[in-house]
Amino acid sequence: MSSGLRAMMQPHPLFIDHARGSRMWDIDGNEYVDYVMGWGPLVAGHSHPRIISAVGEMLPRMQMIGMGHRLEYEAAEAVVAAIPGAEKLLWSNSGTEAVQVALRLARAASGRNTVVKFINSYHGWHDSVFASVAYHEGGEAATMNSLGQNPHAIDQLLVLPFNDIDAVGELLADAAARDIGAVLLDPVQSNSGLYAPVPGFLEKVRELCDEHGVILIFDQVIAGFRVAHGGATERYGVEPDLSVLGKAIAGGFAQAAVVGRAPIIDLVTQGVFHAGTYNGNPIALAAVQATMDLLNEPRTFEGLDSVASGLRTRLVDAFAESSRPFEVRRIGSLLAIDEQAGDRPPIWSDLTGELVNHGILALPSGKVFVSTEHTHADSDRFAEGIRAALRVVDAAAV
Ligand SMILES: Cc1ncc(COP(=O)(O)O)c(C=O)c1O
Repeated sequence: MSSGLRAMMQPHPLFIDHARGSRMWDIDGNEYVDYVMGWGPLVAGHSHPRIISAVGEMLPRMQMIGMGHRLEYEAAEAVVAAIPGAEKLLWSNSGTEAVQVALRLARAASGRNTVVKFINSYHGWHDSVFASVAYHEGGEAATMNSLGQNPHAIDQLLVLPFNDIDAVGELLADAAARDIGAVLLDPVQSNSGLYAPVPGFLEKVRELCDEHGVILIFDQVIAGFRVAHGGATERYGVEPDLSVLGKAIAGGFAQAAVVGRAPIIDLVTQGVFHAGTYNGNPIALAAVQATMDLLNEPRTFEGLDSVASGLRTRLVDAFAESSRPFEVRRIGSLLAIDEQAGDRPPIWSDLTGELVNHGILALPSGKVFVSTEHTHADSDRFAEGIRAALRVVDAAAV
């Protein structure tokens, strides 16, 4: 099994044979419009011909070299050019690993150990930050979220409510005394409901970090290349010291990066250990470069915005016809379907199971990823699927 979460898909995990554009076909030949999009990376859809061609050209040339190569720099330049304020880049294989090295850099740069994150925000599955995501016991101490996790790994992790400017101000006022060296922040809580920052929140966090000698890290593993071309940095106009990028950066191949201020990134040559056998491998970087080229094309983000916005309208209309209250939020090409079940048992998970019978794949968490390959016709089909699935699930609930 590749992931515990994938095993929980309703009505059971699907086994896919092939995928192209906005579609996937399972091993029985059924076709689906896919809104899972690999859990986020496929901003250009499945099997995009230009990404496949770039990877196909690289494949016979070199695969693993354990040396430098041109794309290490050329693809890095393309990424850095897209993210405002980014000066240098480190390659890593996954968001989890990239968050790990970003935290190391922040501790080394600030000379302090304690990290602040926000309740519900997911930053990867490693022991030091997988806490207060699925549940939180209250207060500023982080709650472990996995059996087998080392409890001491979160001794120096503090958590605050997202969008609570006063709470951040109060805690960071004691940053030096409390050994706080980094704030790790997903600017749109992308993996836990998709909530935009309230006006002034990011600006204030930036100001407080500067005032108290704290390194600000934006985890843009989902937000990057999705809430805008330059991610949350571009959309909200606030520059962190470091940003973690992943998922959409490589259009479906495994690669992630940390970008940020040069003096901090340069610490990897001054004692901060950063490694990874597969970091920056030519195959993945060919995919990064092709993805960056695609996203640089004029009107790409206008197109994504138009389809995602049309999808939101259609979903809102479909839910409005049922007695079930659902809220649909959208930022760029990310949507979140949020059931307001109240006292009634929630049905979204059952709905995703029923949607499979209507040719639609959607995540039980309610996250919806739109790609450049999705069309308004796909959105019509999703909305029709929701109507049909609601009828079935509502009838079963009576
Ligand atoms: C905001 C955020 N940060 C980090 C990660 C971890 O990335 P990866 O799954 O590539 O390790 C994720 C994964 O979903 C994420 O959503």
